[in-house]
Amino acid sequence: MLIRVISDIHSNLTALKAVLEDSAGTEAEKTICLGDITGYGSHPAECMNLVKKVCDEVITGNHDQGAAGLIGVSHFNPDGRSAIEWTRTQLKQHHLDWIKTLPLQTFYHGISLSHASIKSPSSWTYILNTTEAYEAIMEAGRYVSLYGHTHIGMQWNRRGGCSDKSHGYLADWPLINCGSVGQPRDGDPRAAYLLVNTEKGTFQHVRVRYSVRLAANAIIESGLPENLAKRLYLGK
Ligand SMILES: [Fe+2]
Repeated sequence: MLIRVISDIHSNLTALKAVLEDSAGTEAEKTICLGDITGYGSHPAECMNLVKKVCDEVITGNHDQGAAGLIGVSHFNPDGRSAIEWTRTQLKQHHLDWIKTLPLQTFYHGISLSHASIKSPSSWTYILNTTEAYEAIMEAGRYVSLYGHTHIGMQWNRRGGCSDKSHGYLADWPLINCGSVGQPRDGDPRAAYLLVNTEKGTFQHVRVRYSVRLAANAIIESGLPENLAKRLYLGK
């Protein structure tokens, strides 16, 4: 089965549509989202509606939880805080109700899904070093673990080594970050997503060009912090 994995959309509707229309992923039988549908960008309600429509499994992210009032805005930096407060004015009650039903972690066709580290999903732990990667791999046990949160597509092996190679085998790289659709932070402004082939046991990172200018202008027109628009051009 070919699974399309998206994460960290961050209310960037232009990037989300580009990813869902990308030819490399059109053969996917399932689409899953690892959270942070909202935050930073200008179209939180539209992104939530689209994710709800197209995704077969959705995990909650810290920005989604912030928008729903499940965690306080003090957990976020000033730009993130401003965006969450603005996002709350854009979402309807049914969006908030839906966020509250989303799990922090689940297993899907033998694969662990979480936004932050599976080691402690509710602590929103970033996987940034060998120790954090090793702990997540140990926690996942025999399962492959897919995650998001850092906005950088990459993978870790069982010795805690990492790679940013665009493709590989799940058996070699059991811990994989799918990258960010709407706010990549690896210096490449293109939208990112992941394809997982469960029969072949392989994965592939995919990058998609989209109109950053359209997304950035929409952020400015919404009155959100200008820095959130600028960073889209930089992929940082
Ligand atoms: Fe995020």
